[in-house]
Amino acid sequence: MPLSSQALPIARPVAGDATGNPPPKPLINLLRGWPAPSLLPVAQLQAATATLLTDPSIVVGSLQYGPDPGFQPLREQLAGYLSRTFAAYHAPNDVERICITGGASQNAACVLQSFTDPSYTVCVWMSAPCYFLMCPIFEDAGFAGRLRAVPEDDQGTDLEALERGFQEFATSPPSGPTLKSHLSPQRKAYRHIVYVVPTSSNPSGVTMSVVRRERLVRLARKYDALLIADDVYDFLQWDVSPADVDADPVVQQSHVALPPPLPRLVDVDRMLPRDDDESGEGGDRFGNAISNGSFSKIVAPGLRTGWVEATPAFAYGLAQTGSTKSGGAPSQFSAATISVLMRTGELDRSLREVVRPALQRRHRLLIQAYEKHLSPFLELGCGGFPTSASPVRTVFGGYFVWLKLRRPDMSAAVVAKRALARENLVIAGGPLFEVKGDEASARFDDRIRLCFSWEDEAKLEEGVERLGRVLRNWDEPCEADTAPTGAGDFK
Ligand SMILES: Cc1ncc(COP(=O)(O)O)c(C=O)c1O
Repeated sequence: MPLSSQALPIARPVAGDATGNPPPKPLINLLRGWPAPSLLPVAQLQAATATLLTDPSIVVGSLQYGPDPGFQPLREQLAGYLSRTFAAYHAPNDVERICITGGASQNAACVLQSFTDPSYTVCVWMSAPCYFLMCPIFEDAGFAGRLRAVPEDDQGTDLEALERGFQEFATSPPSGPTLKSHLSPQRKAYRHIVYVVPTSSNPSGVTMSVVRRERLVRLARKYDALLIADDVYDFLQWDVSPADVDADPVVQQSHVALPPPLPRLVDVDRMLPRDDDESGEGGDRFGNAISNGSFSKIVAPGLRTGWVEATPAFAYGLAQTGSTKSGGAPSQFSAATISVLMRTGELDRSLREVVRPALQRRHRLLIQAYEKHLSPFLELGCGGFPTSASPVRTVFGGYFVWLKLRRPDMSAAVVAKRALARENLVIAGGPLFEVKGDEASARFDDRIRLCFSWEDEAKLEEGVERLGRVLRNWDEPCEADTAPTGAGDFK
C-alpha cells in the first residue's frame, strides 16, 4: 500500500494541556498522496455498479473470471479514448495494444515477472527523486542492490548519466537468460529496466521535454532497455497563468479541459523510425516503452485497476504472466464498472468538471500560501505561477510540489520531525525519495514534497503556515531532532 496511500495516522498530542496550554492542534497531512474524498465519484460508481448488476448481458461476464488481456469492452473503450487523446501523435485505435491491469504498482510487478530475468537483466535505473514505493516492487523481483539512481533536472532524466550507466555493462555481453528461459518466444528479458514518470513526476512535478523523450527512446533501443513510464498523471494537467497570483482562491472553474498533451514514450517509440542497429533482440516486436496507466488518480484508488499500452506483442506477452493466466486479468469487476463510466461519458465529465478544476484550485491555493509563508525559506522547483515576463501559458499537473531548502544548514528530515512534533503536521522529507540502495548517487535532504490533493482545502494554507513557523524558528533547539523516527512512521 503506497505510503502516499497510508492509513490515517493517529494524531499525537502537541503541547501538554494539563499545564493549561491550548489543546493539541488537529493533524494536517501534506504527505498523503490520495485523492480527497470529495474527488471520488461515489454517485457515478453507484449508478455504474447498479447498471452492471442488473444488465443480464454483462452481469455474469463482470463477476466471472475473464480473458487474459482484460475485460474486452474496457479495452475497446480505452483504445478509442487514448487514440483520441493522443490523436496529434497518430495513436492508433487498436485494442491489441491494450492490456488491463491491477493498477500501475501491481502491473509493474507483472512486467518484471514477464520481461526481466535477474540472471540477464542487469539493473533497474530509476529517475531520481523517485516514486519510492516502486523500490520494493523492483527488489521483490530480484533486483535488491541493483536499483540505480539517475539524476533528473528540469527537463527530465539526465541521459548522459543514464548512458554512462548503460556503458558500464556494455563490455561484458551476457550469455542469455538462464533463470527464465521459458519466456521466449511470447515474452523476452530486457537487459535493462528504466523507470520514469515522464509527465508531472511524483515527487518533483517535472515533465520531461519532448527532445529528452526522443533521446531516451533512442537510448533504450540502443542498449536493449525497457522504459516503464508511469503515466498516472497524464490526464491531470491544467493551465497556469500569471493571473493565478492574484486569483480569488475560492473561485473554481466549472470546466478544465486537458491541455494538449505531450507524446508519451510509447507514442515516441511507435512513431520514431528504427535505425538498422536498433532492432535488438526482438526489440522491434516488443518495443522499448510501455505506458503504465492507472485509474487510481482519475477514478478511485480502491478500484485497483489500470492498463498498459504497448506494442501488440508486448501487450499479449504481458497477458501471459502466470498470475494473469490463472483466472484472467485482475480487477475484473472494477474494470467492468469503469467500462460503464467510460461508455456513459461519466469518466470524462468527472475529470473535466470535478477533478481537474479541484486540483487546479488546490494547486493555486498551495502556491499562494507558499508565496505568503514559505518563499523566504524554500525555493519552488516547478509549479509556480509564471510571471508576465515568462511565457504566459504554462501547464502543471499531478498532486505534488517539490521545494528546495534555501539554507544549507537545514535538513529536510529534521524539518519533517519538527513539523510533526511542534505543529502536528506531516510532510514528506526528500530522503524518502532517494533510490533504495543507491542513495548516495542522488541525495535529497534539502527537499520537501507537499501534496495538495488530499487535505481539506481550508487546511492546505494552515498546513503551509505551520511549516513556515517551523522554518522561521529553525534556530531554536528542538528535542524532536534526535527522535529516531519522523513522518516516515505514518503508515
Ligand atoms: C508515479 C506513481 N505511480 C504509481 C502510483 C500508484 O498507482 P496504482 O494505485 O495504480 O498502483 C502512484 C501513486 O501515488 C504514483 O504516484
